Amino acid sequence: MYPDRVVSGMRPTGAMHLGHYHGALKNWVRLQSEQPCLFFVADWHALTTHYDDPSIIETSTWDMVIDWLAAGIDPSQATVFIQSKVPEHAELHLLLSMATPLGWLERVPTYKDQQEKLSDRDLSTYGFLGYPLLQAADVLIYRASMVPVGDDQVPHVEMMRELARRFNHLYGKEKDFEKKASEAVRKLGGKRARIYNELRTEFQEKGNEDALEQAKAMLDDAQNLSMTDRERLFGYLEGSRKLILVEPQALLTESSRLPGLDGQKMSKSYGNSIALREEKESVIKKVRTMPTDPARVRRNDPGDPEKCPVWQFHQVYSDQDTKDWVMKGCRSAGIGCLECKQPVIDAILKEQEPMRERAQQYLDDPSLVRAIVADGCDNARKMAQETMRDVREVMGLGYN
Ligand code: TRP
Ligand code: SF4
Repeated sequence: MYPDRVVSGMRPTGAMHLGHYHGALKNWVRLQSEQPCLFFVADWHALTTHYDDPSIIETSTWDMVIDWLAAGIDPSQATVFIQSKVPEHAELHLLLSMATPLGWLERVPTYKDQQEKLSDRDLSTYGFLGYPLLQAADVLIYRASMVPVGDDQVPHVEMMRELARRFNHLYGKEKDFEKKASEAVRKLGGKRARIYNELRTEFQEKGNEDALEQAKAMLDDAQNLSMTDRERLFGYLEGSRKLILVEPQALLTESSRLPGLDGQKMSKSYGNSIALREEKESVIKKVRTMPTDPARVRRNDPGDPEKCPVWQFHQVYSDQDTKDWVMKGCRSAGIGCLECKQPVIDAILKEQEPMRERAQQYLDDPSLVRAIVADGCDNARKMAQETMRDVREVMGLGYN
């Protein structure tokens, strides 16, 4: 019934590194050509943990957006925007909060985890507890069907689904719903009305998911229905409620994981990262000084790639032949570590070249970036406002 939208966000952490690229951005770039996508800077989310340090938000935001564009996010395909410039997210967050049980938020695994991890900050705040609810609003407001996220965020998407279901249950009631739904069925026309009813019974009595899918596909094709009737018929298939919000699904990034130079998670704060647009000379130096298998003290000591972070880079960057060459050469001490690192250096520089090029125009003329984002915000806002009209209406706020 609603377009298959993809929504995802990132906190403004400033310039991106290659870990971000291989972990998320590369996937976004692929998705944008397959489906309507909305990608946003989650600047309010940054404040949930770093409310005492707002000074870095602005520069981090622009640096990050430039890197998104450098990585290949194409504003003519995807909508790129900033969360705080679409205040409807906050309105939906507030309205969802009314009926969200505290226990749902307290039980989200990242809540306790993050409080422990960031123990240097006081995170016993309302904003921090509500973080996953704000995230739910970010997604539900676009009636998105898919949310590309890392596996730590899957419980958040699970909660979005529960919130959407609860919302539809509470507010999808309509006076005389059954009667209006039956009338809408009749409008489908004799044959299709009969098939609809059969498929609905098949699903409701036997839980046959295929029947449900078939019925949904039929509704998608039915040209002569109004939006409202279509909504009713979708809701009527599964129960006796209109569907106002859509249950999204997590789209797990089957990404290649690129660790940091020392084999730990890549992170700017660990000092083990390579920036997306790192200077060539610096890339070469960083890879050349990367630690290797500690057993290879001398050139003719054999090594084991499994114990070497360089090997993990080969797994992301090298073809099978090169990997075979590394395996054999390392174990037999047939190649030296610098020799082994060269193909990695070449591959990184090659990957970065178009990114540097794309970024240049935005660095030369920052107003281009501002214009892209302003456009994206307008676009996103229109979609958000459409949903909010329905949400206000069913929550008793549709009056003037
Ligand atoms: N919570 C996400 C993170 O820390 C960022 C985020 C905010 C997000 N809102 C979102 C991701 C909505 C996906 C959808 O990485
Ligand atoms: Fe690592 Fe390559 Fe050296 Fe082996 S040869 S220890 S894989 S850098």
